[in-house]
Amino acid sequence: MALSDRLFAAQRERNLTSVTTQEEAKPSPRGSTPPRRVTRDPFADLKKAVHAQLVGALGPQLYDVNMTQSDLEHQVRTALQGAVANTNQPMSGSDRTRIIQEIADDILGYGPLEPLLRDPELNEVMVNSANDIFVEREGRLTRVDVSFADEGHLRRTIDKIVGKIGRRVDETSPMVDARLPDGSRVNAIIPPLALDGSKLTIRKFSEDPYTVDDLISFDTLTRPAADLLAACVRGRLNILVSGGTGAGKTTTLNVLSSFIPDDERIVTIEDAAELRLHQEHVLRLESRPANIEGKGAVTIRDLVRNSLRMRPDRIVVGEIRDAAALDMLQAMNTGHDGSLSTVHANSPRDALSRVETMVMMAGMDLPVKAIREQSSSAIDLIIQQTRLKDGTRRLTAITEVVGMEGDIVTLQDVFLFDYHAGYDEQGRAMGHLRATGLRPRFLDRLSDHNVHVDPSLFAPSGALR
Ligand SMILES: Nc1ncnc2c1ncn2[C@@H]1O[C@H](COP(=O)(O)OP(=O)(O)OP(=O)(O)O)[C@@H](O)[C@H]1O
Ligand SMILES: [Mg+2]
Repeated sequence: MALSDRLFAAQRERNLTSVTTQEEAKPSPRGSTPPRRVTRDPFADLKKAVHAQLVGALGPQLYDVNMTQSDLEHQVRTALQGAVANTNQPMSGSDRTRIIQEIADDILGYGPLEPLLRDPELNEVMVNSANDIFVEREGRLTRVDVSFADEGHLRRTIDKIVGKIGRRVDETSPMVDARLPDGSRVNAIIPPLALDGSKLTIRKFSEDPYTVDDLISFDTLTRPAADLLAACVRGRLNILVSGGTGAGKTTTLNVLSSFIPDDERIVTIEDAAELRLHQEHVLRLESRPANIEGKGAVTIRDLVRNSLRMRPDRIVVGEIRDAAALDMLQAMNTGHDGSLSTVHANSPRDALSRVETMVMMAGMDLPVKAIREQSSSAIDLIIQQTRLKDGTRRLTAITEVVGMEGDIVTLQDVFLFDYHAGYDEQGRAMGHLRATGLRPRFLDRLSDHNVHVDPSLFAPSGALR
């Protein structure tokens, strides 16, 4: 029997017609996700059958390492066109094109995720369950009308994604963090840890990382603020970018790093290499998780220690986490100034207390006051970044770490975002970073490095526009 006839017979047997079944998705137990209508694809079974037939027919060719991706794509598409053209099930031209594309996406890529991964406007794809998928577009989370056939389809796609980089997700390791060959960051977590189905989060790697001009055009910061920060980087201040999850810390760190002069030797240290520096002399280090037997881990802390023996002019650490904080502070205090990093915190003051807690995790039993002295002398500047409720990511504070008064670290806000300006009719924040009127003390240090900043920038009325 020809493929088309078999497909048609299979279809008849299941008594499937082009009927749309409506079923209510279960509301999430916490009630955070509104219930939604789920539309079953009338061609679901046809697609399944064509898919299985094609995998059977092409067999080993799908895994032939000598075949180029474009040859493989060509073969799959030709076979698919033949198979779909021969089905007896009536379908419109656009249905045919869609079906071919969806099966090709499944065989050659990551199924229903493919169109989302191809869309340059999306920077994050979040699969909450097989038929509940969100994306982030222009800073806003939106549910998309895309779904996997079922949980099994989602799990196979997760296996395919993590399998490509030699990792796996199963009962013994039900969560995995990975970086795809194209640089995208992936997290997958499956039941029983994940309730209501497997979850997959992909932070897409943009081919073209944001530059300082991009951030200015997004209103994240203003030209004068960018000039000030460029001066702080050139003047070798130790800078921490602080912010919540997804606030844009790594992106800002990348932009700050772009201000490092070309002739310096830069060591970057990250959990998943996301930074992309264009200087000539960049040495990239990436930590490594333990293997399945719990061995072989190389931590950020190990890499920070190692980097000190690599004669760096600058150390850029993707994110300060746990005990690595102690080594970072020591490095900053022992001549490795000009270091840059990020920390997960909600305000500059919170950033310092996070660092303090992390230093305590190093188990050196240091008195709190000693830790504060270390951090206040090591860190010169904290940049707070916040994702506002309009979806934009803004710098909301540029704060100088001045020193200690008694047991307390003194901070001085040099610029603050004026939240009270509120939101306009389109819901966009109207505030700006404004000078507080305080002249930072680090200006003298910048001059020592022959870096000069126009003092009028700090005049109290000065909005950094
Ligand atoms: N200033 C910005 N304006 C608009 N979008 C941005 C901005 N900065 C970053 N993004 C986008 O926001 C997402 C998160 O950015 P990024 O990875 O820099 O955040 P993060 O704070 O480092 O996140 P995490 O806490 O997960 O490490 C990315 O998809 C990025 O493209
Ligand atoms: Mg980050």
